[in-house]
Amino acid sequence: MVLFDQEIARRHTGSLKWDRRPDLDPLWVADMDFTSPPEVISALQERINHGVFGYALPHRGLIDALQEYLKNRIGYEAPEEQIVHLGGLVPALSLAARAFGGDGTLMTTTPIYPPFLSIHKDARIEHQSIDLIEDQGVWTFDWEAMESAVTPKTKLFLLCNPQNPLGRVFTESEIIQLAEFCAKHELILISDEIHCDLIYNETETPHFSALNLPEPLRAHIVTLLAPSKTYNIAGLGYAFAVIPNDSLRRKFNDAKGHTLPEINCLGYYAAEAAYKYGEPWRQNLLTYLAKNRDLITDTMQQRLPLTRVPAIQATYLAWIDCRPLELKSPIEVAEKAGLFLSDGAFFGHPGCLRINFGTQTSRLRNALEQFISAVEKNT
Ligand SMILES: Cc1ncc(COP(=O)(O)O)c(C=O)c1O
Repeated sequence: MVLFDQEIARRHTGSLKWDRRPDLDPLWVADMDFTSPPEVISALQERINHGVFGYALPHRGLIDALQEYLKNRIGYEAPEEQIVHLGGLVPALSLAARAFGGDGTLMTTTPIYPPFLSIHKDARIEHQSIDLIEDQGVWTFDWEAMESAVTPKTKLFLLCNPQNPLGRVFTESEIIQLAEFCAKHELILISDEIHCDLIYNETETPHFSALNLPEPLRAHIVTLLAPSKTYNIAGLGYAFAVIPNDSLRRKFNDAKGHTLPEINCLGYYAAEAAYKYGEPWRQNLLTYLAKNRDLITDTMQQRLPLTRVPAIQATYLAWIDCRPLELKSPIEVAEKAGLFLSDGAFFGHPGCLRINFGTQTSRLRNALEQFISAVEKNT
């Protein structure tokens, strides 16, 4: 797997991941230290060679690629008008809060990707977050807590599936139960599925998209997807929503006003190439990432058995519950070890850490050693 083992110098390349804290070794924000599929790079080069970068629109090749992807990968035949093109998925979450939040409340679950805990502010609405619960080693919804927290003011529910940071792929029955909960309480279900092409074992844990819900439930959903995590093109800013219900889609589009920039002309071409030609590369990526995932899980189990790492079914992110170590501040210990990790506090769970293992195995191994020896010094 030479392709992914190759270290690429990323310092001083204007990289958020590498240049924010030059003093630390970064394993935080969800961006991988790998070059994108060669087909994506070629498509970008070809587009750049054209030399004209005026305002763009989604070209036919992209729309075909998205429709093929939705049909083959998700089993959903999307008419073109159901697809809403966006310059990023987080702005889409914010847009959804503004479109559907009214003067109400947004509900989500923790731990969760940090913007889920703050986008309500863009819409000047309230938010409620309910902890996921661990049931026999599996993190799932706390239906009772959700039922007691929901009020007539609750207007939308933000779902992240596969789940960042827990790496969980929710099952068909969980998603149906969630959609029924939303329908019963008249909540719009916003389903962020950005990590759905990073599932390790699709036989054991298949992706059940909100788009796979039966017709009446599908009328209340907005599904958000993007090629950016899988093909490592987040810096190009492209994502899309699929909204089957016409009036919901109209509301979503109406809420844009003038708040969103034009979509990057290069992002469209990268997305097209990723979906059309990226599959062999994606399979190799998953094989490589699975090794890293096993390295983290096994190392933590053997060397820091008090920490808890949930079974990682998807994503290149590992959630490390350090609370049983009783460290004063796990993130400070990581920093002392020279590492820039993500602080669980931002995900609603202080005392936990998230490690991005989308990097070279040797680098990950060194980082784990540094972290373990820093923990040993502090316990
Ligand atoms: C669940 C989730 N949603 C959205 C994003 C970011 O999407 P974008 O870069 O398109 O705003 C991330 C990035 O890590 C993510 O993990």
